[in-house]
Amino acid sequence: MTANEIRQAFLDFFKEKGHTIVPSAPIVVKDDPTLMFTNAGMNQFKDYFLGNKFPPYGRVADTQKCLRVSGKHNDLEEVGVDTYHHTMFEMLGNWSFGDYFKREAITWSWELLTEIYKIPKDRLYATVFEGDAKEGLPASAIALAKWQELLPEDHIVYGNKKDNFWEMGDTGPCGPCSEIHVDCRPDEERSKTPGHLLVNKDHPQVIEIWNNVFIQFNRKKDGSLEPLPATHVDTGMGLERLVRVLQGKASNYDTDIFTGTIAVTEKISGKKYDGSDTKEAIAFRVIADHIRAISFTIADGQLPSNTGAGYVIRRILRRAVRYYFSYLDYKQPLLTQLVPVLAKQFEGVFPELLQQSDFVAKVVKEEEEAFLRTLDKGLK
Ligand code: GLY
Repeated sequence: MTANEIRQAFLDFFKEKGHTIVPSAPIVVKDDPTLMFTNAGMNQFKDYFLGNKFPPYGRVADTQKCLRVSGKHNDLEEVGVDTYHHTMFEMLGNWSFGDYFKREAITWSWELLTEIYKIPKDRLYATVFEGDAKEGLPASAIALAKWQELLPEDHIVYGNKKDNFWEMGDTGPCGPCSEIHVDCRPDEERSKTPGHLLVNKDHPQVIEIWNNVFIQFNRKKDGSLEPLPATHVDTGMGLERLVRVLQGKASNYDTDIFTGTIAVTEKISGKKYDGSDTKEAIAFRVIADHIRAISFTIADGQLPSNTGAGYVIRRILRRAVRYYFSYLDYKQPLLTQLVPVLAKQFEGVFPELLQQSDFVAKVVKEEEEAFLRTLDKGLK
């Protein structure tokens, strides 16, 4: 399946299960002082979880543009160095606002992964919250019982608050979660070291793909947890990782989500991407990743600047420039040339980029020119 088919299959599956498909919220957050950028699919639904607003639907699903480069969820330093973290990524999600809960959410995620996407069952692992005495939180008995119906005991891993209690920020809706991990290692390696020992251990081939969060609390400013009037489901599956698993690749950058921009970067720079850990290969990955974050954020209304969200975008752009300047030996604006490629690729899912492609390319070019001048002067 292509990435587009994989995304569509997710949306079709949840539509069948009574979900309304809604558009992604903008990546730039303007009305929530606790966030700069959308860092999870659930952000746009925060008021429904907290009971501040009444949701128009009980079940929704979507693909959400997310950016994890600041605050509680920040992956920037890993990006490009490894092959499975991103600044901007698409989070596929399904939500229940006071409707279905743990059993249905887990059953459907299993059905989608094993029956529609046909991921072999023996490669899947689930994590379950073990409870936290200090917070007065019990272990997740319902999630555990559901997983025990689906998986053998050695494919269930118990996790603490760090891995299995999800919070969007310092305050806000939160709750215990159950993650699904896939072991993509070759059979020979799998028979030597069982996969459950590598879950949540930063192994590049044993990766989390989906998180089922059961929103039950509001974390308040004073640190306390307040039970919510209703219970909700909030799930997030990283599209780039899912595509890599389904396309049988060892790296997200080898999927059709990234190969288009990497091929154009090869043509522009005259260098070849070999997927290794060299600085040159990292530069290709950094560029392929960062151009997405930069382009979609500008298209959603955040220009690079010297403060706040604008400064975060400027820093991401400059990180990409430093990589091509130093390791691809390319001294002209490069990122701007990738904007039309990306805009065309996402025409059917995020048309806002194609609609503003010329404007975005112009902003990126001006930023690159200014920073290249600074780099040149600095080096002299
Ligand atoms: N809100 C679910 C997640 O981001 O993992």
